[in-house]
Amino acid sequence: MKALVYHGPQTKALDDMPKPVLREATDAIVRITKTTLCVTDLHILKGDVRTVSEGRILGHEGIGVIEEAGTGVSRFHIGDRVLISCITACGMCEYCRRGMCSHCEKGGWILGNTIDGTQAEFVRIPWADTSLHPIPEEADEEAMVMLSDILPTGYECGVLNGCVKPGDTVAIVGAGPVGLAALLTAQFYAPANIIMIDLDDHRLDVAKRLGATRLINSSDGKAVEKAMAMTSGRGVDVAIEAVGVPGTFDICQGIIAPGGHIANVGVHGESVPLHLERLWSQNITITTRLVDAVTTPLLLKTVLSGRLQPRQLITHRFPLSEIMSAYDTFGNAARERALKVIVTSE
Ligand SMILES: NC(=O)c1ccc[n+]([C@@H]2O[C@H](COP(=O)([O-])OP(=O)(O)OC[C@H]3O[C@@H](n4cnc5c(N)ncnc54)[C@H](O)[C@@H]3O)[C@@H](O)[C@H]2O)c1
Ligand SMILES: [Zn+2]
Ligand SMILES: [Zn+2]
Repeated sequence: MKALVYHGPQTKALDDMPKPVLREATDAIVRITKTTLCVTDLHILKGDVRTVSEGRILGHEGIGVIEEAGTGVSRFHIGDRVLISCITACGMCEYCRRGMCSHCEKGGWILGNTIDGTQAEFVRIPWADTSLHPIPEEADEEAMVMLSDILPTGYECGVLNGCVKPGDTVAIVGAGPVGLAALLTAQFYAPANIIMIDLDDHRLDVAKRLGATRLINSSDGKAVEKAMAMTSGRGVDVAIEAVGVPGTFDICQGIIAPGGHIANVGVHGESVPLHLERLWSQNITITTRLVDAVTTPLLLKTVLSGRLQPRQLITHRFPLSEIMSAYDTFGNAARERALKVIVTSE
């Protein structure tokens, strides 16, 4: 089968690889119909993710059809359409039972990391019963792909951890797919204002279309002053960090109002200064989270009803045979005006 394989820093190829086989009774083999790329894949290709070894098939998002199911899989049968969660969950360990499947003792984020992933014609999914979701008949397949990772990430790590409430002023730093997913799902709670902060005017325009009430282009380094001016010097109730660099966490620290929540979503590669000398008295809550993907069934219902329309995040489409071009486009996202790219193999 064709698969996108990591061959060490800066090197990848669309290779012929053996089709995966069932290893445990709880495994399923899924024939991938649609997958996508994530900034995490770009981090892996830079050599930043040490757990990924050479020869690994990348990808942790996608949908497909059950090709084979182990004898221990009871929920799914050959031919069922399924949504693959970026988090593999055994459903039984202490962390899974606490709803913290990201730290599952037997799974967590393993797809396209420590086991082969979804940018291929087939993938082996361990603990299939608790790591896959059925796709209802009427579902829009491309929208479903957005439920593997970015929607639960924006919602769980950003909106839920940030405790967005009706009437709140929310700032989201980073208008990439994850920040935009937070923007879409924050609106479940009717915040009064959502300020979107990014360096890229095109992404800010997208944010405006998706419901942001105010936009800040922070390339002049004045995001804090601008956000404070927009809130009459008060600051924001919720600041969602969806970039993953010290400067953007610093913006969140600079604009948070007393009693506010800073919800970190971004993956940080270097240490970030924490300004407790200012924040200690401000009744601030700071949260971190690796997506647990426990809200996927809830989000799926909102997509089916049309209340949540994640298709709007898809900008490009490629067949699997052109996945190298998909990487070129996604890797130059600002120039190509790319958000999510759909890779199809049918
Ligand atoms: N916590 C989790 O479980 C989890 C899961 C998935 C992704 N993530 C992380 O979420 C973050 C966002 O993901 P994404 O796919 O949207 O990434 P992305 O790279 O597409 O988007 C990041 C956005 O931040 C903007 N940006 C960069 N530097 C900035 C700066 N200094 N000031 C303002 N804006 C700036 C970019 O223009 C871009 O629009 C990444 O760090 C990703 O690794 C976390
Ligand atoms: Zn991802
Ligand atoms: Zn578990």
